Order: sequence, then C-alpha cells, then structure tokens
Amino acid sequence: MTALHRQPPAIRLGVNVDHVATVRNARGGVHPDVVRAALLAVAAGADGITAHLREDRRHIRDEDIRRLKAELLVPLNFEMAATDEMVGIALEAAPHACCLVPERREERTTEGGLDVLGGGVTLARHVDTLARAGIRVSLFVAPDPDQIAASADIGAAVVELHTGAWCELRAAGHGAEAEAEFERLRRAATQAAALGLEVHAGHGLDYETAEAISVFPELRELNIGHFLIGEAIFVGLEASVRRMRQVIAHGRKAALAVA
Ligand code: PXP
Repeated sequence: MTALHRQPPAIRLGVNVDHVATVRNARGGVHPDVVRAALLAVAAGADGITAHLREDRRHIRDEDIRRLKAELLVPLNFEMAATDEMVGIALEAAPHACCLVPERREERTTEGGLDVLGGGVTLARHVDTLARAGIRVSLFVAPDPDQIAASADIGAAVVELHTGAWCELRAAGHGAEAEAEFERLRRAATQAAALGLEVHAGHGLDYETAEAISVFPELRELNIGHFLIGEAIFVGLEASVRRMRQVIAHGRKAALAVA
C-alpha cells in the first residue's frame, strides 16, 4: 500500500462563533456581526460553522441561527441542550448537524460531557427525532468507554470527545495527568470508530493542542472557538483560522509518519 492510501482523511475544522456574539452582546447592537465573522472564517478555510444557542441566550441568539443557516454555504453545526425547546428550534432551522451538550445555567462554558447513560428514553427520543429529520446527531461526551458505548446504542452518528480536561491539565503543567487524559482520548477515539461512530473533538483547543490531537487517525472534525476568536484580537480572524488549518495539517502528517 502506498503512503497515499494509508493517509487518514483530512480533519474538518468547524469554527465556533459564540464569542463574537459575546462581544456584541457586551454593548447590545449589532457589532461585531456573527454572520460576517462566520463568512470570514469560511473564506479563511473553515469547513463548517458551529454555534451554541444556550438556553439563557447569553451569546448566540435565535436570530443568529436563522441568519447563519440562511447565509452559509458550508455545514452549520447547531450546539444545543437536549430539551424539547431546542429540538423544536433545530427542526425549524434544519442545520446540517446538531451537537447535544449538557447545559447548566451557572457554568461559564460546557463543563462536562453529556450523561448519555443516564439520559434514558428522553435523550434517545431527541436523537431519533433529529435523525429522522435528516440532521446528523453528535453527542458531546467525555472520553469514557461507557458513555461512548451508550452513544452508539441510542443511534448517534457522531461523538464529539470533550478535550477540555486534557487542555486544562496541560495548561496547569500537570504533565503526567495530561498524558493520561490524552491516552483516554486516544482510546475513546479508537473505541468510537470501532462502534461505527464518526469521531470529532473539541473544547479548549489552541494551536498546540489541536496539532497534538490531530495525530488520531480516527478524528474527522475539530470544533474550536474561544482560542480562535481571542487570537483574532491580535492577528485577525482570517489569520488565526489559516494558522489553525496549518497546524492541524501538520499534526495529520505526523499521523502518517506513525501509520
Ligand atoms: N465543542 C463543544 C461541544 C462545545 O460546547 C464547545 C464550546 O462551546 C466547543 C466545541 C468549542 O470550545 P472552545 O470555545 O473552548 O474552543
């Protein structure tokens, strides 16, 4: 087999534009515009756009989802809590994908993975309703073998592995624990792919961590927001997205080298 045949498929980059809305909402009004940021990210190489309509509407608002869906030519990944209200909005908006996440009002960001095992018939019903509408359903889970097995059991098409704990451990200088969490992520990716689930990952990623995780051959998509929007303050959104694309491609090459 040639190197070309062995090369794992490229990783798609979904740019999360939530924090463009955070800045906009700090003053009210319409600047900076979420759709303009999304179109710029796409022009710079994003394969898709992700937006999380939180129940408290703290950043993305209903109108943003409608406009993103109307104006984007790339897939929209609608992040949402697994509630009747959000499923109703998703059915109306008809995004390419829905990523179901746990949500607590007091958290600053999505802190843990979804409890798929404990989600019972209600979660399974939401997954089924969305899938029947032709929406690709992704479950945002910790790299926990039971949660991944449960995700396959209830018919999800995708799991997005929560990289937040790994990124935090690295940032705090806890090298050994970070390495152990990275290995959990690696095993989770292998397990999920073996169960027929498409593997995505996200949360807390920056250039270094995105490059490091791109060696997982099962990985098909990364969803990245906070770091890219923060970097955009210094270098512009186009440059931060372009550089992210480059480091992901570089990480992928390392996967080829070990294949
Ligand atoms: N994926 C999911 C499921 C998320 O909830 C988030 C945060 O909204 C992200 C990816 C992106 O995380 P970050 O903004 O830290 O890059």
